[in-house]
Amino acid sequence: MSHGNRFLTRRDALKLGLAAGAGFALQPHSLLAQAAAGELLSKPIPSSGERIPLIGIGTARRYDIASTEAELAPLREVLRAFPGMGGKLIDTAPSYGSAETVVGNLLEELGIRDEIFLATKVGAGRQGREAGIAEMEGSLQRLKTEHVDLLEIHNLAGTADMLPVLREWKQAGRIRYYGITTTNKEQYEALAGFMRSEPLDFIQVDYAIDNRSAEDLLLPLAQERGIAALTALPFGRGRVFDAFGDTPVPEWAAELGIETWAQFALKFNVSHPAITAAIPGTARPEYLADNFNASRGVLPDAATRERMAALVANA
Ligand SMILES: NC(=O)c1ccc[n+]([C@@H]2O[C@H](COP(=O)([O-])OP(=O)(O)OC[C@H]3O[C@@H](n4cnc5c(N)ncnc54)[C@H](OP(=O)(O)O)[C@@H]3O)[C@@H](O)[C@H]2O)c1
Repeated sequence: MSHGNRFLTRRDALKLGLAAGAGFALQPHSLLAQAAAGELLSKPIPSSGERIPLIGIGTARRYDIASTEAELAPLREVLRAFPGMGGKLIDTAPSYGSAETVVGNLLEELGIRDEIFLATKVGAGRQGREAGIAEMEGSLQRLKTEHVDLLEIHNLAGTADMLPVLREWKQAGRIRYYGITTTNKEQYEALAGFMRSEPLDFIQVDYAIDNRSAEDLLLPLAQERGIAALTALPFGRGRVFDAFGDTPVPEWAAELGIETWAQFALKFNVSHPAITAAIPGTARPEYLADNFNASRGVLPDAATRERMAALVANA
């Protein structure tokens, strides 16, 4: 596995050269223009235009640790390296055990809070507005910050009670963006209802190369309504790795600069036009280098996306 900063394969460069030679001007900031310039790929948050890199870090499960030095060391290395690579987005939640505390302590220790786009969630609103507010105040304390960049209602818990609170907190500058998450298909219709009625900045949904239900309703609606979409569970907690093991990625995928199955799954994920960024669970420095390489070079087009999905479906 190579972790080098290889931006474009020779074939990519030729393809881009051909596109330019054929008279197609590359749109400034388009993904192709970014790839051609060797830049980290980013997409804009529709409600503001602020750009975030396509690959972030999810902190569920693996950041829920007892904080012994042995457990902390790899997480510290991940978070230390992340902003230096150009990374920004870290997603956590008060329900991920000690993850908020671990992230808050490490961001403070490393002095990198201002370089991070920090996202967390609120779930206690299911017990009412005051419980939700108490949990949000607790998140700021655990994350050791005056504001979070994104606060999302976790799995639609107490949405009607919490939306007015999120609007107030955004107005007050305690959060910069707000949204709603779900990874439960039975909640998709309800989430769609809020996407139609509320000026959400973000949604977060489960979406992976072998889990494409969000493409039917939520992702087109996000595009139509100008809502950023983050993808939870982009590896389906590791299903793609289980299916392919040590088999090399096919040559036609390698031509897109894809060297590993993680990059295969992630490039598929973030090449959907509605997806703003993916947040793979990343608790090891070698995973960070691997995953983050999916935010470089060209992304698959629609036909290649289908070829990728078919390969996984038939594995
Ligand atoms: N409702 C919600 O809002 C909701 C629900 C679920 C998740 N989420 C968000 O989505 C994030 C991701 O979910 P997740 O971590 O459960 O699942 P995931 O990202 O689909 O998969 C993570 C798994 O992939 C493995 N992995 C990561 N990078 C790898 C690489 N480069 N090569 C090989 N294996 C790799 C990890 O292995 P190890 O086991 O070795 O670490 C981990 O087990 C969460 O952290 C959370 O932020 C949100």
